Amino acid sequence: MKTFRVAVLPGDGIGPEVTAQAVRALAAAAERFGFRLAFEEHAVGAAGVAALGDPLPAPTRAAVTRADAVLLGAVGDPALDHAPRHLRPETGLLALRALLGVYANLRPVVARTALAFCSPLRPEHLAGVDLVIVRELTGGLYYGEPRGRAGDAAVNTLRYSAAEVERVARVAFAAARARRRRVLSVDKANVLETSQLWRETVTRVAREYPDVTLEHAYVDYAAARLVTDAASIDVLLTENLFGDILSDEAAVLAGSLGLLPSASLGAGPGLFEPVHGSAPALAGRDVANPIGAIASAALLLRHGLGLAEPAAAVEQAIGDALAQGARTRDIARPSDRMIGTREMGEWIAELVRTPARRPLSLVR
Ligand code: IPM
Ligand code: MN
Repeated sequence: MKTFRVAVLPGDGIGPEVTAQAVRALAAAAERFGFRLAFEEHAVGAAGVAALGDPLPAPTRAAVTRADAVLLGAVGDPALDHAPRHLRPETGLLALRALLGVYANLRPVVARTALAFCSPLRPEHLAGVDLVIVRELTGGLYYGEPRGRAGDAAVNTLRYSAAEVERVARVAFAAARARRRRVLSVDKANVLETSQLWRETVTRVAREYPDVTLEHAYVDYAAARLVTDAASIDVLLTENLFGDILSDEAAVLAGSLGLLPSASLGAGPGLFEPVHGSAPALAGRDVANPIGAIASAALLLRHGLGLAEPAAAVEQAIGDALAQGARTRDIARPSDRMIGTREMGEWIAELVRTPARRPLSLVR
């Protein structure tokens, strides 16, 4: 029996709580499908600073590079908001992405009919929404040099090479091939040189995928289209900062940021984390929605370990639990019975083990 090594980095805030439920779902999938997972837990973010004085401590670096896949909870702690950059939790996450070379970040967004009431958008804007954002993750303004402060001025550098654009574009076109065969490439080519390079390069890569339709859009228009006609979008390809912003916006379509997973892929082990942050106000209260983390675990199975069937089983279990009325606070109506992080995780894990049956222990 094959054993896969999964490095688990719970991180900060609600990270440990949601990660525990993602691990529970993974363990259930391993049990049902007959593979073995070896989990190894390590510190990142503020937890890394607290334990070893570094948001990405050396033991964590070593563990992630020898793992088959990395599962991360969240990083961020208001207590470190004004700490020097090398001690900020976010610096640990950016360093982790760079270390793993995970240049392509996939953020699928589905608007489920059962959760349409959670979104402030009218149902006609949600019908048929099923898209994936492919965000460039290891370049652009997040990493550009020079950067820094000088007197009363500050500088960040936006730089992209054609090679950086090409490789992430290929991920988007390949993803489109397995979906509705459309790529919407988002840039600001009417103003930025980096965007002009982006557009030229994506256009060139598109020639290798004649069966995929490419459309270009400026980011301002794309932001509006996400809340007016998102159903027309299949794969949205964009650079690092635009992708960061548009993915939070797209979460409004799903109804809660707590539902969204992500996969960050490169040449080595992939990094899988929910899109949401550490949500310090919710931490330790058993109220956070673990579905974003559990859905990230499904992506870990599919893209990180190449286990498509177990991945689909976890996704099916999430859908079934929601259809059966499992509701954490963020996706509950006032009249719904609300459950906690742990109960949601148990419910989904039970459905992974025994599909389509509501877990008896949880029927009230
Ligand atoms: C995200 C987050 C991170 C980002 C932060 C925490 C550095 O917002 O994954 O979207 O900006 O990439
Ligand atoms: Mn973000």
